[in-house]
Amino acid sequence: MKPYDQLLRDCILINNYWASADRRFPVMNPATGDLIAEVADADTNHVVEAIGAAAVAFETWGKTTARSRSLILKKWYQLVMQHTDALASLLTAEQGKPFTEAKGEVIYGASFIEWYAEECRRTYGETIPAPVAGKRLLTIKQPVGVVAAITPWNFPVAMITRKIAPALAAGCTVVLKPAEDTPLSALALASLAIEAGIPPGVLNVLPTSDAASIGKVLCTHPVVKKISFTGSTEVGKILMEQCASTVKRLSLELGGNAPVIVFDDADIMVAVKGTLASKYRNAGQTCVCANRIFVQQKIYPDFISRYREAVAELNVGNGATENVQIGPLINEAGINKVRRLLFDATEKGAEVITGGGTHPAGGLFFEPTIITNCNDSMLLSREEIFGPVSAIYVFNDEHEVVRLANKTEYGLAAYIFTQDINRAWRVAEQLEHGMIGINEGIISHAEAPFGGMKESGFGKEGGYYGIEEYLETKYLCIGGV
Ligand code: SIN
Repeated sequence: MKPYDQLLRDCILINNYWASADRRFPVMNPATGDLIAEVADADTNHVVEAIGAAAVAFETWGKTTARSRSLILKKWYQLVMQHTDALASLLTAEQGKPFTEAKGEVIYGASFIEWYAEECRRTYGETIPAPVAGKRLLTIKQPVGVVAAITPWNFPVAMITRKIAPALAAGCTVVLKPAEDTPLSALALASLAIEAGIPPGVLNVLPTSDAASIGKVLCTHPVVKKISFTGSTEVGKILMEQCASTVKRLSLELGGNAPVIVFDDADIMVAVKGTLASKYRNAGQTCVCANRIFVQQKIYPDFISRYREAVAELNVGNGATENVQIGPLINEAGINKVRRLLFDATEKGAEVITGGGTHPAGGLFFEPTIITNCNDSMLLSREEIFGPVSAIYVFNDEHEVVRLANKTEYGLAAYIFTQDINRAWRVAEQLEHGMIGINEGIISHAEAPFGGMKESGFGKEGGYYGIEEYLETKYLCIGGV
């Protein structure tokens, strides 16, 4: 008996009905290689059925009061919180992150449900002073309609609630396609949503091993009014093209290449702790993970020696066991990518000072690694590492480091460590990245806007910005007053 058995669902959810399918696909535990479940594999017929169910449900859900939606979302939030341990152990089993980190994700995920349960009661329109007599100008906010959410494997709970909670709160209905590697957390969350009172058709979940075909139907179907996607820039561009045929609204949270900048005047331990937190969260598999760590010349020797000590203390292993900080990577492709980038970097002169290879804990485990002597000819200065490898660069002055930090097509998160408030402002304003951590390595909160610039995408999730993505602002002009 596993702690999550009660929440384990292995079917497609359409209209609050758990449907099977002709085909099933395996969901494996990346730490042990064990099979967790064989899940019904949704095909394009299921997508059309789910969109139909969401469209019918929108007719009523879109007209319910904000308060009634708020009450259901609050109940969902409470249920998720009550099942934190079970959800976290399921998350660890299918994704690999350590149990305490998984618990943190469940609580973080739940915070979006709580926040939007509150925020939906404040989606105010406005009155606008008219430029001519006899007219009254105003705006109202209305739900955009049926929304499709396509979510990644690295945060199987939080990336779902960050999209679905504001969508449902706004009055939209949802078709969710979770990642192939981690559909079980999505299905568990949905079962709690049903228990909370989400009506049939309002939330539909399509686990699938055929992301490309399902995604294409979602993007091209005229009834779907909005796509919210978190994933790679490469896939984001394909979805964007597909959405053009119906001029669909889009939110894209895509790849990142986060610079961390440690200035000479930084508080060294704050910088070490912040960089460590940003880099090694989820074994380096987040879009906001430190990808390039720039350290100023004077502080460099001290920073390296303390950072190395801290990295050496990280415990690698199965996330279900105690005192583990680094779990496995998600799959073979993930570990091969890390190996390829590391090989390229060392060929071009990088020096491995800690780690550097697979970990004895098993095939998908990689040692927490630090490489120095990095430069921008290396592939890892351009590509997301998505693994537990710290790539360290040295820099001389502020002007140089701002140029280097911006030398990427990505623009998601960046981090600055300095005790000079003027420098913090100056550099933050110059960085072409959508989110800046200043003396802080963990920046995401339900209350704040999460999102990127440049090829990291557009649209914000979180905060009051997050619900706007699911609302139309309609302008009314009343004449003859
Ligand atoms: C991500 O990696 O896309 C999400 C990270 C976060 O929410 O902090």
